[in-house]
Amino acid sequence: PLPRPFTVPLPFPATARPVRPGHYEVVQRAAKVEIIPGTVTEVWGYDGTFPGPTFDLRRGSRTVVRVRNELSVPTSTHLHGGVNPPDSDGYPTDLVVARGRGFRPPPGGHSRHGAADMSQWTIHPGARDYVYPLEQPAATLWYHDHRMDFTAPQVWRGLAGFLLVRDDEDDALPLPKGERDIPLMICDRAFEEDGSFRYPSLDPSLLVRPGVEDAYMEGVEGDVILVNGAPWPVLEVDAARYRLRLLNASNARRYRLALTPGGRFVQVGGDQGLLAAPVEHDAITVAPGERFDVVVDFSAHPVGAEVTLVNTLGTGPARNVMRFRVARRVRDDSAVPDRLGRVEPLERSAAVATRVFDFRRTGQGGGGSWTINGMPYRPGVPLARPRLDTTELWRFTGDFHHPVHVHLARFQVIARNGRPPAPTDAGWKDTVDVRPYEVVDTLVRFEGYRGRYMMHCHTLEHEDMAMMADFDVV
Ligand code: C2O
Ligand code: CU
Repeated sequence: PLPRPFTVPLPFPATARPVRPGHYEVVQRAAKVEIIPGTVTEVWGYDGTFPGPTFDLRRGSRTVVRVRNELSVPTSTHLHGGVNPPDSDGYPTDLVVARGRGFRPPPGGHSRHGAADMSQWTIHPGARDYVYPLEQPAATLWYHDHRMDFTAPQVWRGLAGFLLVRDDEDDALPLPKGERDIPLMICDRAFEEDGSFRYPSLDPSLLVRPGVEDAYMEGVEGDVILVNGAPWPVLEVDAARYRLRLLNASNARRYRLALTPGGRFVQVGGDQGLLAAPVEHDAITVAPGERFDVVVDFSAHPVGAEVTLVNTLGTGPARNVMRFRVARRVRDDSAVPDRLGRVEPLERSAAVATRVFDFRRTGQGGGGSWTINGMPYRPGVPLARPRLDTTELWRFTGDFHHPVHVHLARFQVIARNGRPPAPTDAGWKDTVDVRPYEVVDTLVRFEGYRGRYMMHCHTLEHEDMAMMADFDVV
């Protein structure tokens, strides 16, 4: 039986601790945890937890994370939003395989990677190091599994966590801090009677045959909304401002978040950090992979008030997300200043090239897949070769909701259907919610590294069904 909403306390993931300065070790392993009270769920988590530990790091502090895999499946860890060197970017065929386990590419992938062609695969036995220089502004990043053909079921089982980059510029602002700065990982899941995760994999071992049953081609949604791994949790708050770092870590569900009985979100940051100036929203639509840093002022409510974060796109239980209970009056020195970060707006004329990427379904049923420009993903075959330190105009369009995520490069949304972007498009982004038949223009800045990167739809089932493409920064 599912819990009554707003009875389980909001959990806070553990903070990752270095084994020595700049070096961390996490173990991907199975663990039994209590998500639905009174039942046991086996999760696959970083350090056996879901969400995984939160990395709280400073801009420019080069960090090495050793990931050891003790799971029955291969993994690849991607730091989403990170300016990562190419060999630490979590490429889908760059895998860590538990010690003592062999590896063969699954024969039946949607991507035409060719079962026999091992040239595109790299296998690290046991563990590997990911290097994150973090030469980038303060932002709410997250890490998650990115294994070829199997990202969706592996993230569903729990392989995701936060990595917060902090810097002096963000710290110097009078925004809420400490206990009033809270990352919220929002994702939906479905459960079996016995508490185990329910996911319609064709092959539950996740070793041989990728994919989901045809009925789930559009993406897998669950009827239970988790925040930081707990179903519809509740948090006691002071009557004060809070900075909430909202992340949609769902496989496929989009949320339109609002506060009831009332309240507004003052957005201070987006995917890639601080906005130039705050943007107020009554509601925020969050597609998979996107982050919104918002300030919510609970002092507008009397002590004892209950403020519910709802999802107005959801029906039934999926309409509730979590609740805040205003517990006490306090002194609050925080503020939202009129000027936040330095975001220099890019001009269309800065683009040295224009490319169009069309996200579309091809074929039907079991033979169908999700493609970019008509092509299912092929590792090692780049669809673009942008030059380092240039800006390009990338136009995204498609036949469905496709949250488009670009690795390495941040971008600014400059137009939707030829008109000005939405208020939720403000700032530097790495994921953009492309809606059915919409034409979204972005200016993408290629900075940091040359090498092989990728972009893809962040609906994880679409990603697994080949809606990905490589690009090489040259
Ligand atoms: Cu969050 Cu390539 O993904
Ligand atoms: Cu998609």
